[in-house]
Amino acid sequence: MLPRLLHFLDASPVNFLAVKNICAELESASFRRFNPQEPLGTLRAGDRFYVTKNDSSVYAFIIGQQPIADAGFHMICAHCDSPTFRIKPNAEITCEGGIVKLNTEVYGGPIMSTWFDRPLTIAGRVIVRGNDALHPNTLLLHVKRPLLQISNLAIHFNRQVNDGVKLSKQKDMLPIIGMITDELERGNLLMNTIVEELNRQQPVRREDILDFDLYLADATPACTFGIHDEFISSGRLDDLSMCFAGLEALLATTRSEVPPATTNVLAIFDNEETGSQTKQGAGSPFLASILQRIAMSQSDTLGMEAFYQAVERSFMVSADNAHAWHPNYSEKYDPTNHPVLGGGPVIKFNAAQKYASDASSAAVFAELCREAGVSCQRFVNHSDVAGGSTLGNILASSLPLRGVDMGNPILAMHSCRETGAVADHLYAVRAFTQFFNNR
Ligand code: CO
Repeated sequence: MLPRLLHFLDASPVNFLAVKNICAELESASFRRFNPQEPLGTLRAGDRFYVTKNDSSVYAFIIGQQPIADAGFHMICAHCDSPTFRIKPNAEITCEGGIVKLNTEVYGGPIMSTWFDRPLTIAGRVIVRGNDALHPNTLLLHVKRPLLQISNLAIHFNRQVNDGVKLSKQKDMLPIIGMITDELERGNLLMNTIVEELNRQQPVRREDILDFDLYLADATPACTFGIHDEFISSGRLDDLSMCFAGLEALLATTRSEVPPATTNVLAIFDNEETGSQTKQGAGSPFLASILQRIAMSQSDTLGMEAFYQAVERSFMVSADNAHAWHPNYSEKYDPTNHPVLGGGPVIKFNAAQKYASDASSAAVFAELCREAGVSCQRFVNHSDVAGGSTLGNILASSLPLRGVDMGNPILAMHSCRETGAVADHLYAVRAFTQFFNNR
């Protein structure tokens, strides 16, 4: 099970690739793609389908045996975006000696210093001319070799570097992509690479490339480490590890002879790291509209009432990684709650309601863990530390679902390389599978 996670992490350097890989897994488990421009049709127990938005969010459904109005939805949510750097338009800056660096801007909240001095690559989507102006084509791009590096300043020029350094997003964080060897390359290094890479997939003419959403990504594969190989080192554990655990649980329910009792939903949102307020983010009404169509398609008589009843009977698990207790920084943590790596899923609480969890919804999730034979942990912030937020409550503002915020514990959240635990992945999949199979 773990090699599948590591492979997914490596194949998913950015949101677009993560969604593509999740869709491929769904297709191979006989989920059909639903085009939201067309009617949903009549749904029967066991029907499986998925829908995407903007190529960067994906929602998958298995229709349960019980009417949705009576049983509601069992939903796991996670996000597929991670902090990174977006390549700006007209990005190439040719410097002395023909060295070319790329102009970028920050996406989300990375620990910027962790992006220094490591091989990086680019990934994302490229928009190519289509049949008419309103319908261009999208091609995904993942350069599978080290292509860039953001190099540090030598310690000899900055003797205080180990005392903490303020970094400028515009000055310090620009990656080097190459050196021009002839004048024809000037201003064209990036586009040459894009054209070359796309032509490995299909013939593309340079003049047909209209625009792109391209980001930097770590080029070093994910791996396990530790005396017992008990830890995971990878970029984007937050939140691809939760996306994949949710996917594994959904796929597990398809292997049963009979459909699950309740209608199961896996919702993978984009743009959590920038506040979720996009059409493909958790603040969008898109998912609610699909759930409405599902609930109404099942009932000729109830109409919207079927959806309202379903919402009241649903439960949501908002799965986003939590902070594991760090052995070097005990003082940053709550005095009495220390969720540890390998200790199982973490339920997150916040008195100011940054998290959806309350005693009632936490009890539900803890009981699911107990039924699955998995221990679970609880996280609260040190009261003098602000802490983060997640998508659970943003979703709740458009879909008032009962739900819990949880996530697997990791160290160094938003580092280019985060640390997780192997055991926690197995625990999360078991807990989620229990949830999807529960009435
Ligand atoms: Co997250």
